[in-house]
Amino acid sequence: MEVLRYIFSCFSSSKSSSASSAGSHLLWSSRVSDENKAMVEQLQKYAIIKSSKVAEVMETIDRELFVPPGASPYYDSPMPIGYNATISAPHMHASCLELLQKHLQPGMRALDVGSGTGYLTACFAIMVGPEGRAVGVEHIPELVASSIENIKKSAAAPQLSDGSLSIHIADGREGWPELATYDAIHVGAAAPQIPQALIEQLKPGGRMVIPVGTSSQALKVVDKRQDGSVSIRDETAVRYVPLTSKDAQLQAN
Ligand SMILES: C[S@@+](CC[C@H](N)C(=O)[O-])C[C@H]1O[C@@H](n2cnc3c(N)ncnc32)[C@H](O)[C@@H]1O
Repeated sequence: MEVLRYIFSCFSSSKSSSASSAGSHLLWSSRVSDENKAMVEQLQKYAIIKSSKVAEVMETIDRELFVPPGASPYYDSPMPIGYNATISAPHMHASCLELLQKHLQPGMRALDVGSGTGYLTACFAIMVGPEGRAVGVEHIPELVASSIENIKKSAAAPQLSDGSLSIHIADGREGWPELATYDAIHVGAAAPQIPQALIEQLKPGGRMVIPVGTSSQALKVVDKRQDGSVSIRDETAVRYVPLTSKDAQLQAN
């Protein structure tokens, strides 16, 4: 990952285009960023992105629209977004999209727990399309509000309007039962154990990707078989902010 960080630093935002000033969601199509495309090409070169579907969606959803002003959108590192939260690094977004892509076909349902900036929820929405559902759950109201503004500037904006993409203020440890069950569940913060509610809300044949652990963490891939039993494997070691209560998160140093 050090190599990637170095490579991506070449694409960080010193000469970034005018995403933050793109006030209308209609502007997204006219400002496809070359730097975003270059970031995707690097992720392909290092085989983090393997599928054309993931490359396509990461080209379509410009990361610059989701990072705070002044941050380097294409640098391969997590970045602070306030409230003791971060936007995950591009290689983590790409890896999670790769792990979930077969469960993000048009018409499928996806849940993004700890949706933060809304970046992955927007990617999920593009992949499942208007006939599917992409649901983000985030417990910091200010992040929900800013994620909706981010998405409005992106290619996923029409799906906010037609209701196939929604973001909710809630404790993600409970999932979002109203629209369960889900073909794909992504959890963007590390849980001490896999929450039972999320296992229950996974559809038979569905897949969940969730970081689990405290001082040491593993990205776990949970597959639910048709008979309802689950298999769990470790994909890689990771470092995420905790999936916790809102108060505990806001009080953390
Ligand atoms: C790594 S950050 C954001 C990840 C997001 N995928 C992104 O790249 O923008 C993890 C997010 O999980 C949220 N979070 C932590 N615990 C939560 C909980 N119990 N319910 C809902 N959201 C939670 C945090 O507020 C934070 O926004």
